Amino acid sequence: MKLYVIVTLCVLFTITEQISLSEKCVCEFAQSGKTFPHDKLERVQDAASDCNSNLMPQKTIELESLLLGLDRRLPVLEKDVSMLEKEDDGELYGVLSLYVIENEMTEIKELIDKLNSTRLEQEHVTATTTQQLQDLREEMQELETFDTMQVVKRQQANQRLKRDLEQCKNGLHPTHQPTEPPHGTCPYGQFLNISEPRVYTAGEYPGSYKYGAWGRDPKPEAGKESWYWRVILTSSNRYAHYVRFYSTLSSLIIGVSIPGNVQIHPSNPTTNTIQGPNNVLYGGALYYNCYNKDAVCRFSLTSKIVTTLDLPKGTRYNAKGNFCNLDECYQCTDLDLATDESGVWVVYTTTQDFGNLVLSKLEEGEPPVLGKTWRTSVYKQAVTNTFMACGILYATRYVNQEVEEIFYSFNPVTGQERFNVGIFMKKLAPNIQALNYSPVDQMLHAYCDSYMVSYKVQFELLDNQS
Ligand SMILES: *[C@@H]1O[C@H](CO)[C@@H](O)[C@H](O)[C@H]1NC(C)=O
Ligand SMILES: *[C@@H]1O[C@H](CO)[C@@H](O)[C@H](O)[C@H]1NC(C)=O
Repeated sequence: MKLYVIVTLCVLFTITEQISLSEKCVCEFAQSGKTFPHDKLERVQDAASDCNSNLMPQKTIELESLLLGLDRRLPVLEKDVSMLEKEDDGELYGVLSLYVIENEMTEIKELIDKLNSTRLEQEHVTATTTQQLQDLREEMQELETFDTMQVVKRQQANQRLKRDLEQCKNGLHPTHQPTEPPHGTCPYGQFLNISEPRVYTAGEYPGSYKYGAWGRDPKPEAGKESWYWRVILTSSNRYAHYVRFYSTLSSLIIGVSIPGNVQIHPSNPTTNTIQGPNNVLYGGALYYNCYNKDAVCRFSLTSKIVTTLDLPKGTRYNAKGNFCNLDECYQCTDLDLATDESGVWVVYTTTQDFGNLVLSKLEEGEPPVLGKTWRTSVYKQAVTNTFMACGILYATRYVNQEVEEIFYSFNPVTGQERFNVGIFMKKLAPNIQALNYSPVDQMLHAYCDSYMVSYKVQFELLDNQS
């Protein structure tokens, strides 16, 4: 703090000197800014040194020595007490020892009282100093506005650069090589766990529409960054013909839909109707299983045009390749669209894959194009849902009404499959009809028996795990 003060003064001094040197010229020195408040600076300096003296390290040392004193004193007391016990023959020695111990007890009590008062004093000092520092900070920020030559700012920038350089230097000495294979394309490292439910709402239609999906567009159009979308299967729990929007998460929770619906077609169902719940919104377009077809539909919210991508021959559709729990299947969950950091994916199954999960990357476009495809060895009907997070496919299974387990993962880069992921999700309703990951905020959005629930995904290398 003192350093910039000196520099600021130097700068002012230089300016003044130049003025006096140029006296003989006709030039006029126009002071553009306000005059520098020297008195204020002095006050700040005084306050700073005051603050410093309050924070003298002696105070802490005092407390520490008192504690240390107590620490040493107690074993002595213990020794004397045990000696008294041995000597307790009712004779003179015992009485003397008792005196000694009584004195020791008085001393220890004094120590404790001192410790108590010092602690209280310190608490007081900490509280007032915090306030003083806050005031000082504000005053310095105000004074900084007089720093028209930007000296302080530059100095701060230099300090930051120095610190970054230091960190950079330290970072250049790698401590160890990673022993695990690379985690796909994920910069966050491994998926570690999932939080308790963070959002839990019945939304606009409490208890109605058991099937649906919700979330946010990972690649939103400008001005729609905070929007949330919801698709409800209004016809037979199978079909939907519009996407409903909420301008914020709180409006979704309280059930106020502004700007309302964007409709695909007035009839439901018909060609290009949404069939099944596992749809996603990405880049201003809804991706979903088209009505009565083994195909992915892409509905552009702006142009309202639907384009179609046919999946390979043999793809199971019309409730022939559903997700299931042990007791029942979730109807029309043949195609599960998913989003992650790298875009849109589709999970499905085919006859030639004997009902096992197949994963394909979708490349953006109108119509979208089928990218690379991977085959897995997990049976789709043994899975309740899937999602992609940071390049890895995860699958869930039903444990009981309160718990769902993320039990399986597949890394398309290495081809590695794991059946022992063992991450448990706490449910607030028994069934999950749709599950999708939002790469924007690492939230997992679940649509559960008409409730909307979200969880925070916790990765190994992400700091903000709150
Ligand atoms: C510490 O001091 C306060 C105020 O003097 C007193 O109320 C409190 O009982 C003391 N605590 C102990 C453990 O002596
Ligand atoms: C995972 O998170 C849940 C809370 O959602 C917690 O109860 C559990 O202990 C965590 N598991 C591990 C292995 O950290």
